[in-house]
Amino acid sequence: MTLPDLEHVRADFPALRDPDAGPIVYLDSAASTLRPEQVIDAVADYYRGNGANIHRGKHYLSELASDRYENARLSVAEFLGARAAEVVFVRNTTEALNLVAGGLGLTPADSVVTTLDAHHSNLLPWRAHASVRTVPVLPSGEVDLDAYERELRREPRVVALTACSNVTGVRPPVERMVKQARDAGALVVVDAAQYVPHRGNAFRDLGADFIAFSAHKMCGPAGVGVLCGRLEALEQLRPTAIGGGTVDWVSLDETRIRRVPHRFEYGTPDIAGVIGLGATVDYLEGVGLGELAAHDSALARMLLDACAASPRLTVIGGDASLDRSAIVSVAIEGVARLEHVARALSDSYGVMCRSGHLCAQPLVDHLAGGPVLRLSAYLYNTPTEIETALDALEEIVRAL
Ligand code: ALA
Repeated sequence: MTLPDLEHVRADFPALRDPDAGPIVYLDSAASTLRPEQVIDAVADYYRGNGANIHRGKHYLSELASDRYENARLSVAEFLGARAAEVVFVRNTTEALNLVAGGLGLTPADSVVTTLDAHHSNLLPWRAHASVRTVPVLPSGEVDLDAYERELRREPRVVALTACSNVTGVRPPVERMVKQARDAGALVVVDAAQYVPHRGNAFRDLGADFIAFSAHKMCGPAGVGVLCGRLEALEQLRPTAIGGGTVDWVSLDETRIRRVPHRFEYGTPDIAGVIGLGATVDYLEGVGLGELAAHDSALARMLLDACAASPRLTVIGGDASLDRSAIVSVAIEGVARLEHVARALSDSYGVMCRSGHLCAQPLVDHLAGGPVLRLSAYLYNTPTEIETALDALEEIVRAL
């Protein structure tokens, strides 16, 4: 099933009707999505009609900006199934994961388990602070769950999972994996950057101690992300940066730190971006989270089937029985310079997609032995666009 009022949804996205760029088929939403007018307006309205700082001044504009900022926190909390105090605004998923990895007081004596489907952002911060062990991914795209259970028996301090691979789109059984890790006594952190945009309710559903995601992958502004953590887990974290906005009282020899979540939001934040994120979750809820998830699954199936049907394309982690989002990466037989294919798709056919190691080089090298071409769809994509993109790809591959 695809979205019933897809044309109506598409009309909200000015980039799809920009005469300078269009007509385009945008299939790079796993990197960054396009934005609807409603989000653009929320950001622009703050700059046009306000612009004041938050949580500092008592004047009207400052109070108004503070209210809008905190209302966004309430909307995001509701969207995730969390409490408002459990939502920390950060710059992006990477910053959120670094905040946890840097704030736990880890040492090289501490063991962290990750999985091979991790984005660099859910690998490198852990490597910087602790000893990391990585659970393999099978050629099917599936995380090796037997190996995972073996790792849990070693009682790691932290388990850092990936709810949806940004390379294969595969969603491992994260709820079950979180439960197993918590039963093993680990603190559980989930990179939900490719999961939240398609599902909402992620905090309640996944049951992790922390989840992290970015607004720009769900129609929101770039430069805003969320660390959502259980209150007790957030309270255990040592802030990795402090200064304005993080303290209640400072004398020459005393600092009284603010409560969670404010103690983590140092300096003047991206106020417009946070307000824009509030508008983003309102927008996605307006589309309907159930409809969004069904559309994602339908597009995932179409992308997978279309790529699998093409003889020179090899889908990476392409087992059709796995639960997945609309993200598919392919290797092309006899073609190493996939960036040229991506460029030809863009310049000759208006199809935008990403090539390379996708910030997940260990997985891409393991499954493909080199760079891949990735097609990733979101709520504004149509079945026809997927056919157009695959026809274009076929033509290019035939010509090579
Ligand atoms: N993490 C983003 C991607 O997968 C940038 O492309």
